[in-house]
Amino acid sequence: MSDAIESILQEDRKFVPPAEFTANALISSEEQYQQMWQLGKDDPEKFWGDLAKEELEWFQPFDSVMEGDMPDTKWFQGGKINASYQCLDQHLTTWRKNKAALIWEGEPGETRTLTYQELHREVCKFASVLDQLGVEKGDRVTIYMPMIPELAIAMLACARVGATHSIIFGGFSADAISDRNNDAQSKLVITADGGWRRGKEIALKSTVDESLEKSSSVEKVVVVRRTGGDIEMVPDRDYWWHDLMENASADREATPLDSEHPLFILYTSGSTGKPKGVLHTTAGYMLGTKMSSKWVFDYKDEDTYWCTADIGWVTGHSYIIYGPLANGVTSVMYEGAPNWPDEGRFWEVVEKYRVNIFYTAPTAIRAFIKWGDQWPQKYDLSSLRLLGSVGEPINPEAWMWYHKLIGGERCPIVDTWWQTETGGIMISPLPGVTPAKPGSCTKPLPGVVPAIVNEEGKELEANQGGLLVMTQPWPHMLRTLYGDHERFIETYFSKFDGKYYFAGDGARKDEDGYYWIMGRVDDVLNVSGHRLSTMEIESALVSHDLVAEAAVVGYPHDLKGEGICCFVIPKGDIPIDEVKNTLIKHVRHQIGAIATPDQIRFTPALPKTRSGKIMRRLLKDIAAGRENNQDTSTLEDQSILEKLRQEG
Ligand code: WTA
Repeated sequence: MSDAIESILQEDRKFVPPAEFTANALISSEEQYQQMWQLGKDDPEKFWGDLAKEELEWFQPFDSVMEGDMPDTKWFQGGKINASYQCLDQHLTTWRKNKAALIWEGEPGETRTLTYQELHREVCKFASVLDQLGVEKGDRVTIYMPMIPELAIAMLACARVGATHSIIFGGFSADAISDRNNDAQSKLVITADGGWRRGKEIALKSTVDESLEKSSSVEKVVVVRRTGGDIEMVPDRDYWWHDLMENASADREATPLDSEHPLFILYTSGSTGKPKGVLHTTAGYMLGTKMSSKWVFDYKDEDTYWCTADIGWVTGHSYIIYGPLANGVTSVMYEGAPNWPDEGRFWEVVEKYRVNIFYTAPTAIRAFIKWGDQWPQKYDLSSLRLLGSVGEPINPEAWMWYHKLIGGERCPIVDTWWQTETGGIMISPLPGVTPAKPGSCTKPLPGVVPAIVNEEGKELEANQGGLLVMTQPWPHMLRTLYGDHERFIETYFSKFDGKYYFAGDGARKDEDGYYWIMGRVDDVLNVSGHRLSTMEIESALVSHDLVAEAAVVGYPHDLKGEGICCFVIPKGDIPIDEVKNTLIKHVRHQIGAIATPDQIRFTPALPKTRSGKIMRRLLKDIAAGRENNQDTSTLEDQSILEKLRQEG
């Protein structure tokens, strides 16, 4: 068991929301929360139906709230809607039209603010460009961009014309892009020459060029000039963003789309090597992200809100763009690294824009702790009133540091549990209501009905560790894995005969009904809050000539949460150090920098059962440097264990 989980098990501190926060909160009492939650459980149709009518703008009202059981529930059938309209047009007839929608800061220090009206104008223009390029409703568009305003404009323009965007995080390799292009059959790629990261240019266009050698569906590429780096433009395939935008019409209505029209695909790692194309549709996703962000972040109209995620991950989709903009909030978007030009950059941004709500990941918090208290202490953080955490369990030590150093002991912390698949936050404190316990994501949001069950699907008593499931459908759940509905059913629903959604996380619920997430129970790693499949890294390794066999496991890592340890059986006799570097480079090239192995250990054999299955639990113990107290009687060759330990 990791130290973090060990300390979570001993945690019994409670932090009650400050009275002043509660007095002004949207959901301001336990009774109010209970009432909402009960209605969501007993009568989801009424609960979500009323919200959909009140909170979303419909071109045509829906006929039914939900049709069909999990996993194939259809939401708001008969309705016509558009996500870009929800985020932009609806605000233009209100005082918000000249309110900042996005405040952007580039890593080199430039800033750009787009009001709702200005963002609307840019989105309409780029939607016209998409029309001109022949992108039609239902087409897929790949977006591979740095964190610049054009990324937000591109995604909202896709939503406007009904094209399904597939955003790929800038840290992925050419192979990862072509796999995703092919799986989605993308017609267009939108990219930039490059982006800035710690003062260096990260080349993007050249990576796209390489990916297009293997992406036959892609016809055209649009390129934003960001760094001014040297790139190649292929005639009749590649177009500059600024050229296309010059004469584009700003008069482009949002296309009315069916409620279940596919809004986006986002690839995430599963327990097999092939990434899963999680598909989200329009109305349910917009309702879920709008409501969850309103409840959890308790937005006020005067708030400046900053989510530090990259839009290439689901957190950026739901909580930089769709959720905040649907609520008419001012959302900050920062391009670069937290430690550039120095370790105070995030706090400088908070001070500069007087940020009120700050949402980040535990891995970042652990880095801040390491860099030292002097960095946040140099800046005025008194504007902050609410802090959030997402992506992995937050260890109580990090929680306390966040609470004291960043929150000045006055800001509630919302530890939000959710997944790419769930579309939006599922379990989280309500900042004005729920007393926080460091390390627990506390209670389900209204409309969310989780349970902790054993392998047989039987609900467990308080404090027994088990599997986290959802017992009811919710509007913003994934609809399918793109092009592979069978895998969708198999991955999330087959374990409990279609009755429950299985999240892949282990968890327990304490005597107060608080959830404590214990981490993944499948072969998915959570490295710096990013999901990676061990199989994906294994297949990258064995695709190299020097590797005979490989097994990849995670181990507790101070900064990353989980580190990547690769056990490799090399082919023949080879000089070890050189090969290590070669293999590290190879994995980076195959998957991307986010999958860089932390340890490569060579071994003559892997521990296997007599039936030939790799004993991963054993490898995990070895990687973590733990004594193993597991049953090794099924291990085929007992001497391997000793050898593996010595290698470490
Ligand atoms: C983990 C990110 C503990 C979990 C939004 C989940 C968390 C996976 C938390 C999803 C949290 C996310 N506490 N664990 N607050 N939030 N996780 O799809 O294992 O990138 O299954 O979505 O991250 O990662 P994903």
